[in-house]
Amino acid sequence: MLVVGARPQLIKSAPLVREILDNHHGLNLDIIHTGQHYDKEMSAVFFEELHLPQPSANLKVGSGSHAKQTAMMMSRLEPFMIATRPDIVLVPGDTNTTLAAAVVAAKLCIPLAHLEAGLRSGDMNMPEEVNRILTDHCSSFLFAPTRTAISNLEREGLGRYAYLTGDTNADALRILAPIVTKMEKAIMKRHQLVSQNYVLVTVHRPSNVDDPTRLARILAALKFVSKTRRIVFPVHPRTRARLAKLKAFDKETKEKLLIRPQGFIETLVLLKNACCLLTDSGGMQKESFMVHTPCLTLRSSTEWPETLAGGANRLVASPEELPRLITKIAFDQSVRHRLKTLRNPFGDGHASSRIAKIIQATRILGVSLQTCN
Ligand code: UD1
Repeated sequence: MLVVGARPQLIKSAPLVREILDNHHGLNLDIIHTGQHYDKEMSAVFFEELHLPQPSANLKVGSGSHAKQTAMMMSRLEPFMIATRPDIVLVPGDTNTTLAAAVVAAKLCIPLAHLEAGLRSGDMNMPEEVNRILTDHCSSFLFAPTRTAISNLEREGLGRYAYLTGDTNADALRILAPIVTKMEKAIMKRHQLVSQNYVLVTVHRPSNVDDPTRLARILAALKFVSKTRRIVFPVHPRTRARLAKLKAFDKETKEKLLIRPQGFIETLVLLKNACCLLTDSGGMQKESFMVHTPCLTLRSSTEWPETLAGGANRLVASPEELPRLITKIAFDQSVRHRLKTLRNPFGDGHASSRIAKIIQATRILGVSLQTCN
């Protein structure tokens, strides 16, 4: 049973779902969607684009406080796990969906596999850090994307459950590369963009958007940058809701800067051609590294320290620093050239096949459970 609910989970799971369905591995797959993300452009669009089969159930949990959202997911997931008693529950990433499914499976003594295990930002103020740590400590299979993740798991005494598989996001980029190339020209034309001539922006973390003063400071920086360089900002629903309440945010700026959330292929094209990415997303820091676009991360910590190598990604605490840093990157092509020479720490794009083989082998060899021994 694969449990998903939020946009990045669909992207990370897609290569593994295709691997299991196309090459079978003797496994049946039941997909459950918690409904954490429910807008078409945050969920349905990815099922279509990534050729994912429809989930057997959507629990329609929607939004709410962390406790309410997670609790509702748990109480709605439990009957499904009891009824179908899956051999293994697979949870991707670090969202509230991940945590809810992990706790339910562990309490029912169902072997749990964590896709993207072992990430640590060291910042317990991030809800995702709490979700990651708890999920890893309930899991019997820890599919770690990088060597750093393996070291983190070993440090916490979880080494015997850990497998270095590579990152399924790298698989997604490898699989989609031909279609990204094919669609590139049309997508750039549709957005009336010139390659290397715009900044791609994604900002949605509570630490950046929930405090109106902080959000206003970020917008002021973007407005300043937009005088000399185009900004392309696909807006996450959380950010959209916060912006609507922001009085200083005028209609003109909105029309100039913001666009709707984009599909994955569209996003990869926008990312590949941007002069730099400004983000607070976890996944996009890594994707920008892999497509050789310099990244500025509007956070004080990262769960992907590998991306900091060679100045490919830079943590920026204060929005006021952005105009200077963006101008520097935009004029300094050497960063992009350097990025092309860096080793890709996220694997060879074949993580899914390794993971499917490990899951398949456990059906023959039996599972050593971390919980309920
Ligand atoms: C979640 C994940 C985060 C991930 C992000 C990607 C957690 C704790 N966080 O954050 O790790 O980076 O997804 O998008 O799980 N909303 C809509 N339409 C939707 C979905 C959400 O309007 O389709 C609104 C909700 O009303 C809510 C807000 O967006 O107020 C935030 O949604 P939520 O599910 O709480 O978390 P994300 O911020 O999306």
